[in-house]
Amino acid sequence: MTSELTPRCPYQEAERKTGFDFDHQPGIERQGEVWHLRSYAAAKQVLRDSQNVLQGASTDNVLMKRLRPPVIFQDGDEHREQRTAIARFFTPKTVQEKHHAFIDLLTERLIVRLQRAGRADLSDLSMELSVEVAARVVGLTDSLQPGMDRRIDASLSSNDLNLSGKANTDVWARVRNAATQSHSLLRMSSFYLIDVRPAIQARRTHPQEDVISHLLSKGYNDLEILVECLTYATAGMVTTREFIGMAAWHMLERDDLRQAYLAGDRTERHRILHEILRLEPVVSTLFRKTVQDVTIEHGGAAHHIPAGTRMILDIRTTNADESVIGAEPLTLCPQRALPSGVQGQALSFGDGAHRCPGAFLAIHESDVFLHRLLSLPLHMVGTPELTLNEMLMSYEIRNFIVECHEDSGEGVRLSGTAAHPAR
Ligand code: HEM
Repeated sequence: MTSELTPRCPYQEAERKTGFDFDHQPGIERQGEVWHLRSYAAAKQVLRDSQNVLQGASTDNVLMKRLRPPVIFQDGDEHREQRTAIARFFTPKTVQEKHHAFIDLLTERLIVRLQRAGRADLSDLSMELSVEVAARVVGLTDSLQPGMDRRIDASLSSNDLNLSGKANTDVWARVRNAATQSHSLLRMSSFYLIDVRPAIQARRTHPQEDVISHLLSKGYNDLEILVECLTYATAGMVTTREFIGMAAWHMLERDDLRQAYLAGDRTERHRILHEILRLEPVVSTLFRKTVQDVTIEHGGAAHHIPAGTRMILDIRTTNADESVIGAEPLTLCPQRALPSGVQGQALSFGDGAHRCPGAFLAIHESDVFLHRLLSLPLHMVGTPELTLNEMLMSYEIRNFIVECHEDSGEGVRLSGTAAHPAR
């Protein structure tokens, strides 16, 4: 089929990997008491309407009511103040001045390990990278032992964390469950004992420029800080890990895309990464609740959603809404012309008050690592294992084995790629 994208988009055969055979059409649908928002405009309206729409952090759990909720479940003034206070940890200037050199160094360490071994599981490398980078922003830098990535995995996957007896239905539910635990969580969690508590103790005497120091200055207790750390682990570490895997997969499969990425300046490389993230949103579902009546216009009709209604925002479908994204929305096309106000990654970082504060950091660290990785003579061994974690509504890539043969003549050789270029 000929399309208007033909002359501009060279990667037309590269398509969404994470369709999982149940893609929907953009639109708005009521199913019982729940509204499903699958149009880009509707989802954006709801995400930006912080007057009438909330995260819905309220819970009947007594302990949760007594705890300060983590940032992701805050609303209103409390949330605004928190976001204003932490914004300084995520600015492009902070990322460049405080984190870039570390990301570069860590990348080199991971690359040398890969080169020495000749092969590696990319999902392990990307987890280590994303955990260590986010840990510095949070202030988790005083661990008593190595292996924080494994302890985080264990803390987040523990069934013991779910006291509700119901299946979790969103990517942040693990955090909510963590927050509903009794203080025994503190005793049983090796993540707390080995990573979080030492960080808190160090910052009580010597505050630093990081999230934990900020929370201490606001009087947060240990349990509240642990829950906030688990929020960052879910929101910042797990997400970035999966995204790096997905971006590498697309580029290792499409040599033309990989070459364009390696040859591009930073703007071009970020454009490619944003387009991959649009097509393959790691957080595929967001949840909201109306606190006032809300009206959404869609397809010539007005949909009246009463106060107190739960809404499920289907980000994979909103990101492929042809009316906004343009023709062939399920095709990877970094050159697509998006209307003004629509970002390259569409709603993959959310929007409005809760929009991801780590968006720039995530793309920057992914870029530093991927640029170095993909300039190696590297190829995939078999097809990575791709699953949809239905509990989290997020994809997971595992067993992503790559091999690196310096003498094979394969891959891409660029001069001067020993460290990530500043451009
Ligand atoms: C590719 C990687 C990432 C993706 C796809 C991603 C995606 C998202 C999305 C969709 C939200 C909005 C949730 C909502 O509206 O309910 C969010 C929020 C958040 N993200 Fe990210 N994120 C990524 C990386 C990061 C990083 C690196 C950090 C920090 C180190 C981070 C920290 C957070 C925090 C703290 C929130 C909660 C903000 C709030 O509720 O005000 N994220 N992220």
